[in-house]
Amino acid sequence: MNKVSIIGAGQVGAATALFIARRQIADILLVDIVPGLARGKALDLSQAAPVEGYGTRIAGTDNISEIEGSTIVVVTAGVTRRPGMSRLDLLEKNASIVKGIAQDIAKYVPSAIIIMVTNPLDLLTYLVWKISGFSRQRVLGQAGILDTARFRYFVAQELGVSCQDVSAMVLGGHGDTMVPLPRYTCVSGVPITELLSAEIIAELTERTRRGGAEIVGLLKTGSASFAPGAAAAQMVEAILWDKKRILPCSAYVQGEYGIEDLYMGVPVKLGAQGVEEVLKLKLTPEELKTLRASAEVYRQGIEQLTPYL
Ligand code: APR
Repeated sequence: MNKVSIIGAGQVGAATALFIARRQIADILLVDIVPGLARGKALDLSQAAPVEGYGTRIAGTDNISEIEGSTIVVVTAGVTRRPGMSRLDLLEKNASIVKGIAQDIAKYVPSAIIIMVTNPLDLLTYLVWKISGFSRQRVLGQAGILDTARFRYFVAQELGVSCQDVSAMVLGGHGDTMVPLPRYTCVSGVPITELLSAEIIAELTERTRRGGAEIVGLLKTGSASFAPGAAAAQMVEAILWDKKRILPCSAYVQGEYGIEDLYMGVPVKLGAQGVEEVLKLKLTPEELKTLRASAEVYRQGIEQLTPYL
């Protein structure tokens, strides 16, 4: 059985563990800096197994060296937003947390694939890629599956159809500048541009952009965890089963879409090697302009990473 380690056993870490456990695709190790927390969550999740019927082995530890032997490490450690904060406001606190974790991953599991979840996602994925020294194939971030899931849900609600029949595409940074693509968003193959007015589509894309903030505003403390956890589990499955799925993920771009040296949301082929390909969609000049504007925000953000590099 493959081993997947999840660093950070908070809300997102526990949700990720649950969704992986239900898939029965790997042994799971939860790791948290707070003594007892990861073990407690692991025990709780293990005690759900007799009811849910999964046979997954789930352990917890506060000793990060136990990640040794993992095929994949998912990083969810860090602080969350409070109402009114943007993901970029988390940079300072989470960059130092994630830097130490990246060093430990490189030390204990130099051949692992790293899936980043901690925000600000695209910038911290870049930081982890730099600090770990891993290839761009083996470091990626979870954002696009979550953003498209939100978009899919809103479209399904609007049309009164099953969200299973809605497929969507969202590019760009995981933040206010993300770029939902209505032309590539379909209900059983029919683009939503043929099903919904431009005005409604604009409302749904805007709600998708603010999807995380909407939940932060409702929760008051903490942020979304179930949908991010489900999205991370889907990435783990695509890699472990070498599924070659085409999914939007935060990946290193090296000239694709005319953008260089950044992590941002793009469609990738996800398989056993990690990011096996970055796909290039045909974008309109307007879509390309919006995507490059999103990239510009993250280019400026990278400068703020300098103290940690
Ligand atoms: N090593 C291991 N765990 C750590 C470390 C560290 N160096 N630093 C912090 N943690 C743990 C905390 O102890 C806490 O249990 O990370 C966990 C974070 O859990 P929550 O506070 O519940 O936050 P969560 O909702 O899970 O979000 C975590 O994911 O989606 C993003 O924006 C979100 O950046 C945030 C991250």
